[in-house]
Amino acid sequence: MLYPQETIEQVLEASNIVDIISEYVKLNKKGSTYFGLCPFHNEKTPSFSVSDSNGRKMFYCFGCHTGGNVITFLMKYENYTYTEALKVLADRAGITLPKPEYSREDSEKARRREQILEVYKEAAVYYYHLLKSPRGQQAYQYLKNRQLSDETILKFGLGYSDKYRDDLYRYVKSKGYTDEVLKETGLFSIRETDVHDYFWNRVMFPIMDTRNKVIAFGGRVMGEGEPKYLNSPETAIFEKRKTLFGLNTAKKHKGNELILCEGYMDVISLHQAGFTNAVASLGTALTPSHAAVLKRYTSGVVLSYDSDGAGRNAAVRAIPILKNAGLSVRVIRLDPYKDPDELIKAEGTDSYRKRLKEARNGLLFEIDVLSESFDLTDPEGQTAFYHETARRLSYLEDEIERENYLKTIASQFRLDQKLLKDRTIRLVLNRDSGRTYSSVPTQPPARRPEKKEPAGLLESQKTVLAYLAEHPGFLEKTGNILSPEDFTPGLYRDAAELLFAQIRQGCISISGIIGSFSDEESQEQAADIFRPGQLHDDDGEYRKLAADSIILIRQHSLEQQMEKEQDVGRLLELKKEQENLRKCPFLFD
Ligand code: CTP
Ligand code: MN
Repeated sequence: MLYPQETIEQVLEASNIVDIISEYVKLNKKGSTYFGLCPFHNEKTPSFSVSDSNGRKMFYCFGCHTGGNVITFLMKYENYTYTEALKVLADRAGITLPKPEYSREDSEKARRREQILEVYKEAAVYYYHLLKSPRGQQAYQYLKNRQLSDETILKFGLGYSDKYRDDLYRYVKSKGYTDEVLKETGLFSIRETDVHDYFWNRVMFPIMDTRNKVIAFGGRVMGEGEPKYLNSPETAIFEKRKTLFGLNTAKKHKGNELILCEGYMDVISLHQAGFTNAVASLGTALTPSHAAVLKRYTSGVVLSYDSDGAGRNAAVRAIPILKNAGLSVRVIRLDPYKDPDELIKAEGTDSYRKRLKEARNGLLFEIDVLSESFDLTDPEGQTAFYHETARRLSYLEDEIERENYLKTIASQFRLDQKLLKDRTIRLVLNRDSGRTYSSVPTQPPARRPEKKEPAGLLESQKTVLAYLAEHPGFLEKTGNILSPEDFTPGLYRDAAELLFAQIRQGCISISGIIGSFSDEESQEQAADIFRPGQLHDDDGEYRKLAADSIILIRQHSLEQQMEKEQDVGRLLELKKEQENLRKCPFLFD
């Protein structure tokens, strides 16, 4: 952790979680808790809760089980790192953070990332200058021939990597970077006998993250040549499967759809034509991580993939991924042109705008592509097509929407409407709720490995932690028979240690406990433990459940200790405690 727990708690204390989350999600108050539509999964009824009472200061979604404190929220929503989120909150609250206390390892990592980012920045500036210098004449001309304006070239920071094999290397070396750092940038091959740049005689496309930092490059050969594009390897600052080219600009777009294309040049010419909401994945198939990133900035995507077979296939694969992220999907028709860049050059901006307006619903596009893979003149092909169409229709939740599509599709492919409807409805009724949309038939879920622990042990630990957070005095009432060591090692034990210490100090901070975990997954699990809504203040039942849970946990812990215990005297003591536990005096007071 970079900052002392104290500081983190101070920032959390000063941050009004309801106010902050309200800036992103519309919240309504119900009792002491606020509810809204979850920004992290697709839903129509609010199951996303935010509570600010009893030192809880946390959010939790009962639908997708995402939860955490206000830091977790910003990390997830804004894609901030822990430190970035903390800084934003500290600024907001007018708190000055102390100098970060990096552990040696963390500080080394953070410094290394900073240095890699600096090298990329230097490289981008250098490539841009080269493009504008006499040495970049040919590359500049290439871009001009592709009808890019100087303004566009500057906006995207396009550049040129020179013909000399170690041109960039010598430049950044002169700026004082060590070979060790340069190796990690992926921009050079550095061996004892030979050093050369990764990019050589190419037009350079800087790839930026959403904070406008250059994190990678794509380099294109001028004219023919293989590979057409060369991309930076993955590094400490660059993850291909999460990065979208153009998103740094597109995220500022005010509309509610983003245009998703295949290539760098598509994005650039769309932006130049005024469609500044265009983005592209980087020559890789779209991943669920891409979709999750997109969901943060938009509610819908218009696919503008190439019109050739490869592009259509890529679209068919992308649609379910986007839909599962809760995005609406439309597909734009580009033919007879290959890609958006060609279409705009040939027919201009208005033509693209018109096609954008006419973009078809993703489902109709899918069915269209599907129809091509079946022989509809053959009865067997027909049947299979009916089945597959019905299956896809059955995923539409809204009845009216389903009916409309059903009609359209039945008439387009001359299918028997009633037959199609019957089949669809049967599927709707039979399908397990909550299964995700897929373009291929779904597999049954893998079996979970069985656990050795008694049933409900973790559930009991959860109950106890949640109850004690609300009724800290109960710990003493139980005669302190429970200690953090009785909890399962890992998250539960860590949470118990913090909570018990807080109880002893008389000051509970649940958000502080959540904040003590530095990885998102643990934060979510911790939030799940302390989630609101399960507590009934003067409910004797709940208290009894907590007491029972304490006994179960302690019993289990004693059994484990007895298994390991060699000393007979000590063994008898444990046995005695176990018997006394059954009488559990505190249950009845
Ligand atoms: N791509 C890649 N490596 C290749 C070819 C393509 O990484 N060898 C990626 C690039 O991100 C490229 C995208 O796939 O932008 C789409 O490829 P393509 O349609 O061939 O390129 P365009 O962007 O259309 O480029 P251009 O107009 O310059 O041909
Ligand atoms: Mn293309």
